[in-house]
Amino acid sequence: MDNILTINALTKNYGRIRALDGFDLEVNKGVVFGLLGPNGSGKTTTLSILLDIVKPDRGSFRWFEEPPSHHSRKRIGATLEYPVFYPYLSAVRNMKIIARIKEKPFGDFEEILKLVGLYDRKDDKFRTYSMGMKQRLAIASALIGNPEVLILDEPTNGLDPQGIADIRNLVIRIANEGKTIILASHLLDEVQKMCSHVAVLKRGKRLFAGPVGEVLVVADTIELAAADMKMLTETLIGFRGVRDIRREGEYLTARLDKGVLPEDVNKYLASQGVVLSHLAMRKRSLEEQFLELLKEGE
Ligand SMILES: Nc1ncnc2c1ncn2[C@@H]1O[C@H](COP(=O)(O)OP(=O)(O)OP(=O)(O)O)[C@@H](O)[C@H]1O
Ligand SMILES: [Mg+2]
Repeated sequence: MDNILTINALTKNYGRIRALDGFDLEVNKGVVFGLLGPNGSGKTTTLSILLDIVKPDRGSFRWFEEPPSHHSRKRIGATLEYPVFYPYLSAVRNMKIIARIKEKPFGDFEEILKLVGLYDRKDDKFRTYSMGMKQRLAIASALIGNPEVLILDEPTNGLDPQGIADIRNLVIRIANEGKTIILASHLLDEVQKMCSHVAVLKRGKRLFAGPVGEVLVVADTIELAAADMKMLTETLIGFRGVRDIRREGEYLTARLDKGVLPEDVNKYLASQGVVLSHLAMRKRSLEEQFLELLKEGE
């Protein structure tokens, strides 16, 4: 897969606060990448460094396998740069001003406004827009000039469920056009629903990175039962590859170590003469795993 972004050991201090601490990351083309972490974990700092808004103290990054340059920067659109729109100007006028500042062509405005669902309101003044519409205009502005990469910082902040759903669908639509999206969020649910890949950040450190689907199966719990529960328990204790064996009602539960499959447990138990009457996977929610990852990083 083509590499879009490589981050190498980025460190950033604000006075005595270490906002980023040796942060590494790789992002490939076409993914929707979520930077997930609690408030203050360094997400915005990371994005600001990647956009040359903030200088890192140590470390480096490469866009499109090149050192950062004016040219590579033009291939990236971001919502971080446009917190301010002129309230008394329309969406189109605001976009024209942004295009001029960014030295981007005017041509694709209508297409972009259709994509973000603002076409019908394009001539209305910005101040008459709802929060969700303002957020979508910010994304529209980031899309001016057809960038290959789109960077969004907390794209659903302050939105109601409908607004959140609109943004989610928009992100999916933009990703389907082949763009790479990097978004920061402190909301697990948002990352789970929108992103294909995720990096979990805590106090400027990366705790985990990988496909969202893999995070979901990092550590699983299995349920087991056999006619002789006592023998099952004793035998299971002898198996390396499971932890936290517990009795829950009529079942035993155990956590699988990484890379251990339920089949492996079954084979071992069978080899010891234990026949299971029940064996099932119990996937932990990403929520539980996220909280646990944050705990492990303490
Ligand atoms: N300009 C600044 N001056 C001083 N400290 C800063 C500055 N910007 C960020 N920080 C500190 O750096 C740390 C990381 O902040 P950052 O904004 O990157 O976190 P974040 O993950 O984006 O958080 P949030 O979810 O609240 O947006 C925090 O402790 C923050 O207080
Ligand atoms: Mg932030």
